[in-house]
Amino acid sequence: MRERWLSLIANQTPAGLLIGGDIAESGSSLDWLRQLAYSTSCPIYFVLGNHDFYDQSIRITRQNVVRLCREHEHLHYLTDCGSIPLRDATSHQVAAYLIGEDAWGDGTCGNFEKSFVKLADFSRILDFKTLSQEKRKDLLIELGRLSAERLTTKLESVPESTERVIILTHVPPFVEACWYEGKTADEHWSPFFVCGQMGVVLRKFAEMRPRCQVVVLCGHTHHQGVTQPLENLIVHTGQSVIGHPSIVGTLIIDNQEIAIDTYSDPI
Ligand SMILES: [Fe+2]
Repeated sequence: MRERWLSLIANQTPAGLLIGGDIAESGSSLDWLRQLAYSTSCPIYFVLGNHDFYDQSIRITRQNVVRLCREHEHLHYLTDCGSIPLRDATSHQVAAYLIGEDAWGDGTCGNFEKSFVKLADFSRILDFKTLSQEKRKDLLIELGRLSAERLTTKLESVPESTERVIILTHVPPFVEACWYEGKTADEHWSPFFVCGQMGVVLRKFAEMRPRCQVVVLCGHTHHQGVTQPLENLIVHTGQSVIGHPSIVGTLIIDNQEIAIDTYSDPI
């Protein structure tokens, strides 16, 4: 399975690779990233998803991933990076800026208290394991706040003249981007599947920079969909099937716009 996915990527000869989290579970995420780093020569930009933190604490997982990135120069953990200029292969001009954040379903959308959803995260991620339901919500809000804070700093570093920004994140930042079988999340799922605080930051940035095209790439829900909250803000939610890694789409950046050919090729 892993080898087929790696050869599928190699055959595409991409200029770069974007991975939106839930790479694997527990420590095996590191193995996947390591193998990917050895088998491809292009830059690999990624964020982590909730599954990547299983059986460990959030802090230690991130430390281990940052350490791995120091060993492989083309592995880039975007949560730990600033905004990254992506250059046109011919002109070498900056065609877009890439920004990434893990993000969390931060409990700020939907109805956390009445939700029937019981996430495995709360028993598998050490930070949540011993917390009461109330404290779990506090932690989710704090994790979302930190993601939004880092995102704000990165967006503020993007030059005023920038016309294109790509945001890679695991969790959809808007309820309208949280797809499941063609519908968007209700009040039960939204608290755990939407990072509302990141959405506030993104909407504000897009409103302040009307000439900047903001493209958000996310996942987490396993179902695909596209939503456009503002004329210059579009969110692509990629689909996934557990145990079947795939290439969700191809991102083409030129001097005019960012285009996405969406397809899914489960292995
Ligand atoms: Fe996830």
